[in-house]
Amino acid sequence: TPQTVTWTLVHSVMASVLGSLQIGYHTGNINATQMVIEEFFNQTWKERFKETMSLHALTMLWSFTVSTLALGATVSVLTVGIVADHYGRRNSILIANSLSLMAVAFMGISKTAGSLEALIVGRFLIGLFCGLNMTLIPLYIQEISPTRVCGAFSTMNQLSQTVGTFIGQVKSCLENMLGTSRWWPLMLSLSAIPAILQYLTLPFCPESPRYFLINCHEDELAARGKIVYRTRLKNGVFLNGHGCVLMGHLEPGGVSKVIHERFRGLINSFGTQPILIALILNASTQLSGFNAIINYSTKIFRLAGVAHPTQTTLGIGAINILFTIFSVSELHTELSFSFLAGTGVFHLPISLHLCTQGEVPWTKYFLLLALFTMVAFYEIGPGPISWYITAELFSQSARPVAMGLTSSWNWFHNFIVAMFYQPLLSWVKHF
Ligand SMILES: *[C@@H]1O[C@H](CO)[C@@H](O)[C@H](O)[C@H]1NC(C)=O
Repeated sequence: TPQTVTWTLVHSVMASVLGSLQIGYHTGNINATQMVIEEFFNQTWKERFKETMSLHALTMLWSFTVSTLALGATVSVLTVGIVADHYGRRNSILIANSLSLMAVAFMGISKTAGSLEALIVGRFLIGLFCGLNMTLIPLYIQEISPTRVCGAFSTMNQLSQTVGTFIGQVKSCLENMLGTSRWWPLMLSLSAIPAILQYLTLPFCPESPRYFLINCHEDELAARGKIVYRTRLKNGVFLNGHGCVLMGHLEPGGVSKVIHERFRGLINSFGTQPILIALILNASTQLSGFNAIINYSTKIFRLAGVAHPTQTTLGIGAINILFTIFSVSELHTELSFSFLAGTGVFHLPISLHLCTQGEVPWTKYFLLLALFTMVAFYEIGPGPISWYITAELFSQSARPVAMGLTSSWNWFHNFIVAMFYQPLLSWVKHF
C-alpha cells in the first residue's frame, strides 16, 4: 500500500488535536485573569469569614488554584498506560474529554455559587485531563500516521497546544474581551466548544490499528485500520510505531537519525544511568521557570512597572508560537543544553530588576528582554527536546513505564514552580 495521506487520517488528527487546544487554553487563560479572580476570592472570603483576606493568604490560595492543574496531571499521567491499553487510544481520548466538560461545569458555576472550591476542583479536573491527553494524543497520532508525515502531524499537535495557550491569553487579556469580573466564568468555560466539537468528530475516526494488533490481537480490525490509514506493516509491527518516538515528534531517517546517533553517543558518555538522567533532565526543564512566566507573566510585568502588562503577556504568547514552529523545523538538539543554561542565565536580570524595584527603572527593559528570550530559548531547547531524550533513554520494553514515571515527575516539578513561584517572589522582595 502506498503511504499517502488519506482524508480519514487528516480528519482523525484534526479531531484529536482539539484536545491539545483545550490543554493550551487552560494553560493560558488564568494568567491575565489573576487580578479579577483574586478579587472574587477576596470577596467570597469576606462574606464567609467576615474578615478581609490577608495578602499572604490570597497569594497562597491563588498559587494553589493555578498549580492544582499540574497536581491533577501528576496523578493522572501514572494511569495513562493502563487506560490507553484497556480502552484503546481513541476511546481514552473521548473519556478524557468528559473530564474537561466536567471541569468546565465546575468553573462555570463557581462565581454564581460563590464557591472558590468549585474553581479549584475544576482546575484539578482539567489537570487530570491534561495528564492523560498530553500522552494519549501524541500516541494516537503517532500510531495512525504513516512514517513520512508522522513528524508533521505531531508538530501540528504541539502547535495546537501553543495556539490554545495564545487564545486563552487573548480571551483573558483584553479588557473588552471576557477577562472581566463579570465574564471570567464564561471565559474559563469556553473550552467546552472544542470539547463538544471533539465529541462530534472523533467518534467517527477509526481506532489505532497498532492498538488492535498489539493490545487486542485483532488482526482483522488492524488490517482494516491499516487500509484506512495506509500505514504499512513490517514483520507484524507498524513501521511508524517504531520510528516516531512516544510523545516525541520526530520521524526516523534523515536528520532525526543523525540526531538519534548523536544522542546515543551523548548518553553513553554520561554512563549508563538513564533513570538519573531522565529525572534530572525533566526536573531542570520545569525548574527553568518557563511555566512561571506562562502562569504569572502579567503579575510579573505589573510588579516591574511595565506599562501594559496584559498586552505584553500577549507578546509572550506570540513568541511562544513563533519559536514552537521554529524549533520543530530546526531541531537544535546539540544546543539544547546550552539553551537550558541560557534560560538559567536570564533569571539574573529578572531577579536584579525585581530586587531593585523602582530604584533603577531602566532595568525593566532588561527584564522584558530576558523574559522574551527565555521563552524563545525554552521552545528551541529544553521544552520539546526533553521528551525526546527521555524516550530515547529507555529500551522499547521499559519505555511505557519509564515514560509514565518521568512524565509524572515532570508534572510534579511543574506543580512546584506554579505553587511556590509567587510566595518566593514576595519573600525575596522583603530583602
Ligand atoms: C480585599 O478587599 C478589600 C476591600 O474590599 C481590600 O481592602 C483588601 O486589601 C483586599 N485584600 C487583598 C489581599 O487584596
